[in-house]
Amino acid sequence: MKNLTPQLQIIKQQINEYIISCDNQQCIDLFNSLPFGKMLRSQLILKIAGISPESLKLCAIIEMIHTSSLLHDDVIDKADTRRGKLTINAKFGDKISILLGDMLYSIAFSQLALMNQNIAYIVANAVTQLSIGEMMDIELANTFNTSYDKYYEMIYKKTGTLIEASSKAAALLASKDSDKYALFGKNLGLAFQMIDDILDITQDSTALGKPSMFDFIDGKVTIPYLLLYERTENKDKLKSLFKVFLSKEDMSWIKEEMQKTKALEDSIAQAVSLGKKALEALKGEDNIFLEELINSMIKRTF
Ligand code: FPP
Ligand code: MG
Repeated sequence: MKNLTPQLQIIKQQINEYIISCDNQQCIDLFNSLPFGKMLRSQLILKIAGISPESLKLCAIIEMIHTSSLLHDDVIDKADTRRGKLTINAKFGDKISILLGDMLYSIAFSQLALMNQNIAYIVANAVTQLSIGEMMDIELANTFNTSYDKYYEMIYKKTGTLIEASSKAAALLASKDSDKYALFGKNLGLAFQMIDDILDITQDSTALGKPSMFDFIDGKVTIPYLLLYERTENKDKLKSLFKVFLSKEDMSWIKEEMQKTKALEDSIAQAVSLGKKALEALKGEDNIFLEELINSMIKRTF
């Protein structure tokens, strides 16, 4: 549990206790082998709602849902590594990964059922949208997508909705303006996914904990590729590299074209602008910690 603040360790401990109460050693061992990230959603909830038994429980629920979605996503994406470690599907197979995801998801929903009805609905509805977003992601990867609107709708649903719901639910817990915090969370979520899509290109596999530039190989035309396609004079070459093995030369060509056309620079600018929009939604609120969170998220390297 190193690198986690004491509050985030409490959340991990809480999830651990839920799993122990299921009384199944295989599930306990599998859970203990999962690498945890920076727990952005929990950081957000605690910054908005403060620390209380209810806010910590909300964090545990959201983290279990998020982890569950990644266990399913790694099966869908046939991913071998996440956060620098072998994925559960790579180590134990797709069936185990799906079922561990189902178990975490069900525990999360059992606990959600015990919370305030409004909060339970907001979170449950976000998971529906999350699943639709993941389906859109799969569908869009079938052909070379050139629609910015479809990309935007997909990242909003796939990533934005759970962050939006976390922020809104935390605001409700703290009796703050939930609409303002929902808008904040939505824009933060969009910025977060765009940064993720940019890092796939700018970072190496060691920093990413997964292969670099894998999105395009996997059929994902993310924001830097959308802008590159719009601007490059060599659209045919870019299309010929879609969903195929990329040699070092191919990768260098894509990166150079992205520099030349400012596709990367402008993708970063869009993410920064969404971050600013998020903060604007909170005008008049005491938001210094949230500003720090946005800045660290935008400047992150993995
Ligand atoms: C990561 O996307 C995936 C998501 C943010 C959402 C995945 C959602 C589902 C699988 C729907 C089912 C939900 C539940 C709760 C069971 P990515 O592949 O772009 O990012 P990555 O690089 O981190 O894999
Ligand atoms: Mg994935």
